[in-house]
Amino acid sequence: MLSTKLLAIEVLKTILKKPASVMEPFIHFLMNIIVYTLFVPSLIVFVAADTKFIAQSQSLSYGKTIVSSPRGTFELGFFNVGNPNKIYLGIRYKNIPIQNVVWVANGGNPINDSSATLKLNSSGGLVLTHNNMVVWSTSSSKNAQDPVAELLDSGNLVIREKNEAELEVKEYLWQSFDYPSNTMLAGMKVGWDLKRNLSIRLIAWKSFDDPSPGDLSWGVTLHPYPEIYMMKGTKKYHRVGPWNGLRFSGRPEMADKDPIYHYEFVSNKEEVYYTWTLKQTNLLSKLVLNQTTQERPRYVWSETEKSWMFYTTMPEDYCDRYGVCGANSYCSTSAYPMCQCLKGFVPKSPEKWNSMGWTQGCVLQHPLSCKTDGFALVGGLKVPDTKDTFVDESIDLEQCRTKCLNDCSCMAYTNSNIRGEGSGCVMWFGDLFDIKLYPVLEKGQGLYIRLPPSELESIRHKKKSKIIIATSAAATLGVIFGIYFIYRRNIADKSKTKENIKRQLKDLDVPLFDLATITAATDSFSLNNKIGQGGFGPVYKGKLVDGREIGVKRLSSRSGQGIVEFITEVKLIAKLQHRNLVKLLGCCIKGQEKLLVYEYLVNGSLDCFIFDQIKGKLLDWPRRFHIIFGIARGLLYLHQDSRLRIIHRDLKASNVLLDEKLNPKISDFGMARAFKGDQIEGNTNRVVGTYGYMAPEYAVDGLFSIKSDVFSFGILLLEIICGNKNRSLCDGNQTLNLVGYAWTLWKEQSASQLIDSNIKDSCVIPEVLRCIHVSLLCVQQYPEDRPSMTSVIQMLGSEMELVDPKEPGFFPRRISDERNLSSNLNQTTSIDELTITSLNGR
Ligand SMILES: *[C@@H]1O[C@H](CO)[C@@H](O)[C@H](O)[C@H]1NC(C)=O
Ligand SMILES: *[C@@H]1O[C@H](CO)[C@@H](O)[C@H](O)[C@H]1NC(C)=O
Ligand SMILES: *[C@@H]1O[C@H](CO)[C@@H](O)[C@H](O)[C@H]1NC(C)=O
Repeated sequence: MLSTKLLAIEVLKTILKKPASVMEPFIHFLMNIIVYTLFVPSLIVFVAADTKFIAQSQSLSYGKTIVSSPRGTFELGFFNVGNPNKIYLGIRYKNIPIQNVVWVANGGNPINDSSATLKLNSSGGLVLTHNNMVVWSTSSSKNAQDPVAELLDSGNLVIREKNEAELEVKEYLWQSFDYPSNTMLAGMKVGWDLKRNLSIRLIAWKSFDDPSPGDLSWGVTLHPYPEIYMMKGTKKYHRVGPWNGLRFSGRPEMADKDPIYHYEFVSNKEEVYYTWTLKQTNLLSKLVLNQTTQERPRYVWSETEKSWMFYTTMPEDYCDRYGVCGANSYCSTSAYPMCQCLKGFVPKSPEKWNSMGWTQGCVLQHPLSCKTDGFALVGGLKVPDTKDTFVDESIDLEQCRTKCLNDCSCMAYTNSNIRGEGSGCVMWFGDLFDIKLYPVLEKGQGLYIRLPPSELESIRHKKKSKIIIATSAAATLGVIFGIYFIYRRNIADKSKTKENIKRQLKDLDVPLFDLATITAATDSFSLNNKIGQGGFGPVYKGKLVDGREIGVKRLSSRSGQGIVEFITEVKLIAKLQHRNLVKLLGCCIKGQEKLLVYEYLVNGSLDCFIFDQIKGKLLDWPRRFHIIFGIARGLLYLHQDSRLRIIHRDLKASNVLLDEKLNPKISDFGMARAFKGDQIEGNTNRVVGTYGYMAPEYAVDGLFSIKSDVFSFGILLLEIICGNKNRSLCDGNQTLNLVGYAWTLWKEQSASQLIDSNIKDSCVIPEVLRCIHVSLLCVQQYPEDRPSMTSVIQMLGSEMELVDPKEPGFFPRRISDERNLSSNLNQTTSIDELTITSLNGR
């Protein structure tokens, strides 16, 4: 309510500054909001009297609209979408001024003037005519008695019997949700109505101002194990993976605990569809298929930002493109190269494979022997394309195995539903396509892949946890192949590599600095100029001849990385551009020396402010809140918007730099991925991170995911509020760290005691408490409980209700608790396995 009032004031201010011609839409907008918030009941009366629905033989003409009831969220009318000479009958959000069209009737057939009318005829058909020509009409074969057309608040235009309440069969005669345009709204079903043999799918607009159908579509394909494809014409472009009872196989982030959405997939004799609804009814959200970007982003409307906030998108990385690695292989963004043959398979054409011609795929190394074959479990993946599958819901995994083994063409099997213990059986026949492997094991699901006896022998003697064996075996094989081929190629043609480097350097899109330039700028890397020690080497301040100041990261030579890989990664980091990330200016390669040149930020790092009693006063609460938001945005960009899905892995106060206006910029991103080549799986035995910020699953098991970054963000958030490091304590209490202390106070409902005395005067208590709440959600013990950065931003920026946090991970409890011993990182036992960097930051 408060924010709406503020908005109204904002809008008024804007109006007063604008000339009369542009005032109308603003007044309209303002009226809606005022009416909407203050006079809802009268609005209903007003609408009902005028344009609530079209009754039989009534019509809607240009300039008139039908407003959805009862809340007036949507309106139906005639409008253009950019080109004033092309008019469409469509539905749009009534109170959103931008990108508000969610449906058009005559997308491929626009009208060129205002003389069109929409009429409901006696048999319940909506007919759009222009110059006595039918431009568009609904099909209505049923015998309608007293039809009306009505726009519902879901954005669904329906034709129904007026006295529907008295009828036995309550079914719409027609609904626009059955014929979507490029937008999916909450409650819409995308899939198949099998009774009517009707496929309901999104079709992209040709461009943002041309709603005629493009060649990109998104809908369900009816395989025995049905799944959703994004199609480009008749070619598969992206696959989200079949529904496995909990979520889409290729959408591991989709959790039951999603704060915003409830997802559902239904498959029965009458219909097969995917739908989602909003848990918070006051939110507006849409999913749009975009021809230009070839993506299917999901947006949430933000009243505070006045824009559509990006929630997620698909495809989100290279491995989400359909079949990039060919048959019997997997794609993993953390593998090098990204495409790897499955265990027991070799590239069909090694030459092509090694020059990135992966689409030829892989073939079995040794032939199958049918009855004596076995299966290897590969975990953490998106299951293969389901075009040749068979599903039996009634049998269990063991029976599934037997069934698959007895059919010599069955290549893989797994549970069709992974809910609980798992149930049902799905079998794959023939080549396996489009498997994506996730860097974190727990994210994907497991698949049993058929292998000849010879291959299985090699697995058997390494007995560990089942899942880990299979994946690491596959991955190791991949690495060995990778190394072997790189080695062979190097030996065979060293000059080719040199050429390759030259070529790579040529299309590097950041400047290449001369070593002499950098040496001069940093006074030969003098100690005086050293401003920090990051995880991958020291950082120096420098001044170029032209006066520009730079930050130089000198990478330690022990990273042991080849130049080609280094360049590849520099290119990647250079692509990451966001106002809350430190900008990469260039790099320098000479012999063993590898340097990264960044913009220099005058205010240094955040830790120097928040952990300092004097400088801490310079950051009042509004500034701190601005910094928190900025860090969240930068991190979200790394996780999602950059399309490269970067996990930072070492987010901490000393890795957040402040520019001259105290805007935060995250530094050291992309480093972990770039400079530790040994992490094919998300599971690694070398942990890069900083004690105090590391999520338990990462510190203890080496499992990292975007949720481990969320954990670090939660810690950072607490530190910004409290002004103390997680490692030291807020009140000198010896048994708890900051997280533990915060949790204790939270439970006692006295969390406000956490607030740094430096910001006591400037803070808005409910806002700070909300931040503490969010931070406790971020540091929950189990990664799946923690919110994504998108939700974090949503939660920080709105007044939506928050769930209660569960106990945080990683604070010492009873010493006798065996299970938590390993999480007590200052014990020397576990420190051996960790490469903990810069314990105290810089
Ligand atoms: C509008 O289109 C009709 C054909 O549909 C054409 O006859 C007419 O000239 C056009 N009018 C304008 C103003 O372009
Ligand atoms: C009403 O419109 C529909 C759709 O154009 C058409 O099939 C039907 O014949 C029309 N009915 C009458 C009575 O005109
Ligand atoms: C597609 O995405 C582009 C770039 O984000 C945007 O400008 C355009 O409006 C989008 N198109 C549609 C139809 O939403």
